[in-house]
Amino acid sequence: MAIIIKTPEEIEKMRIAGRLAGEVLDYITPFVQPGVTTGELDRLCHDYMVNVQGCIPAPLNYAPPGHRPYPKSICASVNHQVCHGVPGDRKLKAGDIVNLDITTIKNGYHGDTSRMFYVGEPSIQARRLCEVSYECMWLGIQQVKPGARLGDVGHAIQTHAEKHGYSVVREFCGHGIGKKFHEEPQVLHYGKPGTGIELQAGMVFTIEPMINAGKRDVRQLGDGWTIVTKDHSLSAQWEHTVLVTETGYEVLTLSAGSPPPPF
Ligand code: MF3
Ligand code: CO
Ligand code: CO
Repeated sequence: MAIIIKTPEEIEKMRIAGRLAGEVLDYITPFVQPGVTTGELDRLCHDYMVNVQGCIPAPLNYAPPGHRPYPKSICASVNHQVCHGVPGDRKLKAGDIVNLDITTIKNGYHGDTSRMFYVGEPSIQARRLCEVSYECMWLGIQQVKPGARLGDVGHAIQTHAEKHGYSVVREFCGHGIGKKFHEEPQVLHYGKPGTGIELQAGMVFTIEPMINAGKRDVRQLGDGWTIVTKDHSLSAQWEHTVLVTETGYEVLTLSAGSPPPPF
């Protein structure tokens, strides 16, 4: 399957789905406090998407090959959890860092975005990891324009992460997105400049680097979904859905509460 170039009509729908996904993160922000469970955050986001936004939460029952159906409506990945953390009875406590990953479906199109949240006051190390990971995402985004290559995106991310002594997770990547949750291309968060596919106006994909404070290796928990760092080091991730425009990029998952770009 080739990369789908979105029409102006599709792009307009993806702007809406993308903004709605960002607005779920805005909505949930004040609830991310010590004592709340990830299951409660999932329920709040689910009800907001379904009852307020009229969206479908894409993760719920999502079952890619080799996976059991995902049982919840968001992903909540705490501390050394890298991604795909399944919400449950775990209570967040002061000092935790948590990634909340939201994917909405509106009028048949997907929007996919995630942010890191501090529960109370994070350690200096945890805060720095979250900040550098945010810079990594934006350095990747800023590479996006027609004629650039996906290796340019990956290289910008990898260089920045490794400069700070962090590592880039290899097993998961960004992805094309549209009518389907995960489309071509795969967007690696590491690589060499001038390699990989050439970007073209109308492509839409996510950039969602997972950056570990320790080694890059990960493993899956027995729930069949949650991914953790093998060495139990902290991990951080941010995600936006990005359109390639004639002159550069447009971030489709911005909302009123998005943190400003760092550069
Ligand atoms: N939102 C994740 C991504 O960025 C995918 C989650 S799949 C799920 O690609 F089933 F765990 F929700
Ligand atoms: Co994604
Ligand atoms: Co996501």
